[in-house]
Amino acid sequence: MTPKIRTLTTTSAAVFLAISFAFAGSAGAAEASAKPTLTQDQQAGKDIAFSKSEGNCLACHAIANGELPGNIGPMLVAMKIRYPNKEDLFKVIWDPREKFGKGIIMPPFGDHKILTKEQIDQVVDYLYTL
Ligand code: HEC
Repeated sequence: MTPKIRTLTTTSAAVFLAISFAFAGSAGAAEASAKPTLTQDQQAGKDIAFSKSEGNCLACHAIANGELPGNIGPMLVAMKIRYPNKEDLFKVIWDPREKFGKGIIMPPFGDHKILTKEQIDQVVDYLYTL
């Protein structure tokens, strides 16, 4: 091999590597977006939980994929296992004072009409995906 050809081969190998990395990157992105999509109700619940003007659950709870969560409440994770009965989870959000006592800092979302029954149902549907 002449030096010139060797340089060419090295260069094309580098280009090939760069291209394969680019493809690997886009394959990763495709995989991430192929994650199970949320139903309409679950997505609505997520929007409520993440929105500052509605549930704002993120202000106090860490939630998967939520940015800048607060740490006043426990992380919301494995909710289906921890609350096998949906009604119990609904009740905690409707009025956490029943379960945690009057001093709880979490607002009684249903009892204080911050969220409607339908909205809390959607939040519960979403929490069940966590
Ligand atoms: C102002 C802070 C605050 C906000 C806002 C808040 N929570 Fe909480 N939440 C808490 C605290 C504190 C607890 C822990 C109670 C305890 O363990 O003593 C809690 C407990 C819970 C629990 C029970 C967790 C468990 O481990 O049993 C659930 C479920 C929950 N919150 C859901 C929500 C949802 C859904 C929202 C939004 C609609 C929300 N919280 C908004 C502070 C908050």
